[in-house]
Amino acid sequence: MDHPIRALVAVEGLDAFDVQRALPDDASFTLLAMTEGVDETVRAVVKDAPDLVVVACQGREDDRSLHIIDGAHRAAPDVPIIVLASTSPNGFLRRAFEAGAADMAIFPQTKEQLRFAMSIAIARHPSRGADSTARKDGRLICVLGPKGGTGKTLTSTNLSTALALAGKSVLVIDLDLQFGDVALCLGLPPEKTMYDLAISPGGLDEDKLKDYVMTHDTGVDVLLAPARPDQASAITIDLLRDVLVVARRAYDFVIADTPPGFTAEVIATIDASSDLVMVGTLDSLSLKNTKLGLETLSLMDYDPRKIRLVLNRADTRVGISHHDVVTVLGSEPEIFIPSDREIPRSVNEGVPITLSRPQSYAAASFHELAALFTGAESQPAVEPVRVEAAAGSPRRSLFRLRRS
Ligand SMILES: Nc1ncnc2c1ncn2[C@@H]1O[C@H](COP(=O)(O)OP(=O)(O)OP(=O)(O)O)[C@@H](O)[C@H]1O
Ligand SMILES: [Mg+2]
Repeated sequence: MDHPIRALVAVEGLDAFDVQRALPDDASFTLLAMTEGVDETVRAVVKDAPDLVVVACQGREDDRSLHIIDGAHRAAPDVPIIVLASTSPNGFLRRAFEAGAADMAIFPQTKEQLRFAMSIAIARHPSRGADSTARKDGRLICVLGPKGGTGKTLTSTNLSTALALAGKSVLVIDLDLQFGDVALCLGLPPEKTMYDLAISPGGLDEDKLKDYVMTHDTGVDVLLAPARPDQASAITIDLLRDVLVVARRAYDFVIADTPPGFTAEVIATIDASSDLVMVGTLDSLSLKNTKLGLETLSLMDYDPRKIRLVLNRADTRVGISHHDVVTVLGSEPEIFIPSDREIPRSVNEGVPITLSRPQSYAAASFHELAALFTGAESQPAVEPVRVEAAAGSPRRSLFRLRRS
């Protein structure tokens, strides 16, 4: 940038002299003032109108720095705030972002790294207008199914590839921490997993997150579940919340595949999500559990308009009519996925059906699901038609694949 960064530095719980020594000392940086506490910082933010506020602190959750961030952000929402923390325990990052921080750096840093982080924060800050491409948070889609084996992982992986084929950047997070199988379904070796991220030192940012993902041929990034069930306990809820915040900043779509039931991780992800896909199958037990799941979401005050209902194995003849489904669930499923022999095959081969059989009805259903999120008119590989067996056949489908 041509003119120096004019910064205000608030110090909380650190030695002001150490902080000052860490700041850039060349012509690219002007230190307007160093402040302490909320009131002094807010007054200085209003008076000096800095390009940027740096809050240097220890990074503890009960840290007064969170109040300073909050106060400065309220006083001048268009001024980006960088947190310079000596540690970043799980949970602090999320609370700092919630309070209004734009970015976070770990203290100490080289002067060069710090100046770079400041330039990025200023350039990316939405109301600065310096970068018209400053990105919005991506959508977090939580794929849910209260019963095991309903097709959650099938849906997560194929929705992800369908979104990637539509040109979106996608991260899949496998929250089935003990028995996750997203890696198998996408044919990815478990070289790096969420466990490696959890035990790594230091804080979390977009670059670090990307160091721990595996990338599929379609460009879909995947944060894999730990390779062994005993490693699952290393993934704390606080870490997960931080990962979700950072991931939404880094991708257009974050898809969370979940284990059956409302585990603590699942509840935290539902709370953080922008959308939810509920996957049920066409049998009375699954429908009952799907209904219970929808009721649980309602008890959690989840906005029903953000829930997409997917019915898997929707063409199985089991004596349950479309009318029965709508009566039990209280709403109409939006997407119907047919049973397809190629699906178990695609799972075994580690190639999602959107790629292995792009012309299939199942693939079309996943493109249709993706289109609900991209807003595209429709992106199926084929124009799906009504699935009906020949007259007189005992197997007569109950559902259309697409509502006309
Ligand atoms: N529409 C379908 N047609 C054929 N087979 C299917 C279909 N949906 C799912 N399956 C089979 O059922 C298996 C279970 O699906 P999936 O792993 O997606 O369920 P899940 O809800 O993730 O299960 P879990 O609760 O154990 O994680 C898959 O391996 C697949 O072989
Ligand atoms: Mg699964």
